[in-house]
Formats: sequence, C-alpha cells, structure tokens
Amino acid sequence: MESQIRKLKEEKNAVILAHYYAPDEAQKIADYVGDSFYLAKVAKQTTADIIVFCGVYFMGESAKILNPDKKVLMPDLTADCPMAHMVKDGKIESMREQYPDLKVVCYINSTAELKCKSDVCVTSSNALKIIEGLDSDNIFFIPDKNLGGFVAEQFPDKNIMLNDGFCPIHAAVTAEHLKAEIAKHENALVLSHPECEYEILEISDYIGSTADILSYASKSDCDEFIICTEKGVMFELMNQNPDKKFYFPAPHPCCSDMKLNTLENILSVLQNENNEVIVSEEVMKKALVPLDKMLELAK
Ligand code: 13P
Ligand code: SF4
Repeated sequence: MESQIRKLKEEKNAVILAHYYAPDEAQKIADYVGDSFYLAKVAKQTTADIIVFCGVYFMGESAKILNPDKKVLMPDLTADCPMAHMVKDGKIESMREQYPDLKVVCYINSTAELKCKSDVCVTSSNALKIIEGLDSDNIFFIPDKNLGGFVAEQFPDKNIMLNDGFCPIHAAVTAEHLKAEIAKHENALVLSHPECEYEILEISDYIGSTADILSYASKSDCDEFIICTEKGVMFELMNQNPDKKFYFPAPHPCCSDMKLNTLENILSVLQNENNEVIVSEEVMKKALVPLDKMLELAK
C-alpha cells in the first residue's frame, strides 16, 4: 500500500501532512510531520496541487483557508476535534459588547466560523508570544479553558477571560493517574501539553506544545519522561530518542478522531480525490484574517 501511495503522490503532485497524533503509519508515509503551527505554515507554503491532511477537520480547513488554490483532502472527513465547537452561540458578541477594546484570541483548534469572529489565532506553541504583543489587556481566550488558563498565569497584568471549552482527551488525564506513574518512575521528568487540566500542569516539570515536548525530551540530559499528551507523540519521541524511556499516565490518552487517518483512507483519497475540504468564499476571507495575523505575529 505504501508504494501505491508514493506513486499516486508523485503522479498527482500531492503532499501528505501528518500531525504527531496521527497513527504511526501516517506519520511514516507523510512528507511533513509536526504540531499544528508547523503544519499550518507548511500548508501555506506548499506548491503541491493536493494537500492530504492527516489531522482533524479544523487543520484541513485552516490549510484550505491559508492556501485556497490547493485541493485539500482529509483521509476521513469525519475526523473532528470536539473542542473546536465549544463556544456558545452569542458568547463572543456579548463579550465584545461588555468590553469595547476586547481582543478575541482563538486557539487554532476551532471552527472556521469561530475564527471569523476572532482577532487573532494562536497555537500552543506561539500563544505566549502572540498574547504578549497584543495592544489590549482585555482578552477573551476561546475555546480552551486549560490553554487559556496556562497563558493567563503568565500574564497576571492582563485581564484574560476564559471560555469553558476543553479537550476531552487531555482532560481525562487525572492527577491520581499521573501521581501513580510518578511513583513508579521517580527519576522521570513530567512533560505536559497545556490542554491538560491545571492539576496536571501544576505538578509538571515542563509545559509545551507537542513539538516543544519533543524538543525538550531530545535536548534534556534526563533519560526518562512521563508524557501527558496524546500517545501518538511516542512514534517521534522514540525516533529521536531510541535510548530514552517514555511513559504515559493510564489510560494512555488516545484521540480516536486522529486515528481515522489510516493508510487505507490515505490511499483512497489519493485515488478518488474525494473528501475535499470545502469552505465558502465568505468564511474563507474572514477566517484568513486571524490566521494570517498569527503567522505574522509569531515570526
Ligand atoms: P499542538 O499540535 O499545537 O501541540 O496541539 C495539540 C492538539 O491537540 C492538536 O489538536
Ligand atoms: Fe481535539 Fe483533543 Fe483530539 Fe487535539 S487531542 S484533536 S484537542 S480532541
């Protein structure tokens, strides 16, 4: 199957992008593997005619918005991030009424419709840098309360207001499970994604995006780590650090939507050019503004 995928990729001038949470087989065959910020930049810059995005829907949608002339295909169009929808109707509008100078900061894990109503997008790897540079102190951070809370702690002088969205996969990591893992591996450092709950972050040694976790583990002198994020990162952690040991708190966090990016589905979309991401012209135009602003401010 791999050789069929490679052949079709070449024939159709397609490129495969995969998030670190995609199945190992997708990461293996992909041309680019990374966190959501890196993949957004790759999608914007690619000269390929077709982008096969092995991620979840908001990632394919952002790729289409950033590079509208490309055909963006998802191996499974139902791969969705539940958190991307977690902002109540009317909430942004009522916050804007309350605070006329409000900046709406939108985690990239959000629908294009939410991006249309936002001032700037961020990812977990650039949120601190972008928020630091904003010219208003009244900020509404959507949709993730955990990444928002982590950011708010770093800027005590800013009024960062939180929404109540969360990632169900990261929220399932409990302090009880993490402490049990720490007890088993006393010398291990705890590296956590900021989508985890506060009780996890406060007992972590390092907090960062998937790419940041990888780079921290690779550079560290320590050789044992407890990883609080989706277990797909294990593939690249082991690639880069075959002699180090990585543990995940039980139950090993698994995003079932990301796992829909199978080799069968990748081959099928390359063959049929189906599962195309379609975004209306109007949404594309409006949602591009906060996405482009993110790319500019994160430079
Ligand atoms: P990053 O890729 O930015 O680390 O985000 C993790 C995530 O949950 C993507 O959905
Ligand atoms: Fe969404 Fe969580 Fe899956 Fe990331 S891990 S795609 S935030 S559900």
